[in-house]
Amino acid sequence: MIIRHPTLHQLRIFTVLARHLNMTRAATELHQTPSALSIQIKQLSETAGEPLYEQIGKKLYLTAAGEAVARAGNDILRRLDALNQELNAQRNLESGTLNLSIISTAEYFAPRIIGSFCKEHAGIEVHLEIANRDSILERLKQNLDDIYIMGQVPDDIDGVARPFMDNPLVVLAPGDHPLAEQSRIAPEQLKDEAFILREEGSGTRLTAQNFFQEQGVQLKVRMTMSSNEAVKQLVAGGLGLSVLSRNTIAAEANAGNIAILDVVGFPILRQWHAVHRKNKRLTAVAQKFMDFLLEGHY
Ligand code: PGA
Repeated sequence: MIIRHPTLHQLRIFTVLARHLNMTRAATELHQTPSALSIQIKQLSETAGEPLYEQIGKKLYLTAAGEAVARAGNDILRRLDALNQELNAQRNLESGTLNLSIISTAEYFAPRIIGSFCKEHAGIEVHLEIANRDSILERLKQNLDDIYIMGQVPDDIDGVARPFMDNPLVVLAPGDHPLAEQSRIAPEQLKDEAFILREEGSGTRLTAQNFFQEQGVQLKVRMTMSSNEAVKQLVAGGLGLSVLSRNTIAAEANAGNIAILDVVGFPILRQWHAVHRKNKRLTAVAQKFMDFLLEGHY
């Protein structure tokens, strides 16, 4: 059999007939009359050069050629459906909304990454929520956003977490602090220093406290601030030491206002994670952003 140029319309009709093996039922499904259907199928048989079905009594049977045409018709129609879905996904990608929640410290790098992504996909609208760890975890629990960026991933949430970038924590001191010149400083040497820490609920604070607790060092917390910027200014102004992500301090460290101390056990090596709820179906845009984060070309 050499089959030339069947129309999609004919193939669609024939796959429906092949499923029902009954002209009236097929016609009903297709909202056509049985005679209109017969004409199309007759033309398809002529194109195929073979009869596609035969009728014995009231019953309709597919011929071998009919079976082959039905199989090919189903394949072609499925492929077209997949193509449609792909095109839709691409269309949505150029016009969708990306809902992101990032933990406070991520504001030092995430907007730059989001900016690069938006340059490649100009039609996308981004909603960005910046909050501390407690608020981000609450949003994650309530499944309010597409993707969350955070350092420490909670164990008690059914989520998927993909690491994508280093997030080292370092000990900061004023640039002229005597310890700034020392190397291999033991953690217990810091026990009499005043510390300015991030607020309760901050991932940075949690990690720093766990570290010093494991070392048996009780930190003297002089101040608590919910802003990395405020902490840095106080450190630079000589009010105490702190522990922050190295991502927060590039400019100050270069200017000499702030020194990174060489404390044994530091930097605490951590990673930034992109997180979402386990059963969440990411939108095309969110999936694309996730891929962009993981590829790391920003
Ligand atoms: P934070 O979190 O900004 O709340 O300290 C950062 C992190 O989890 O590393």
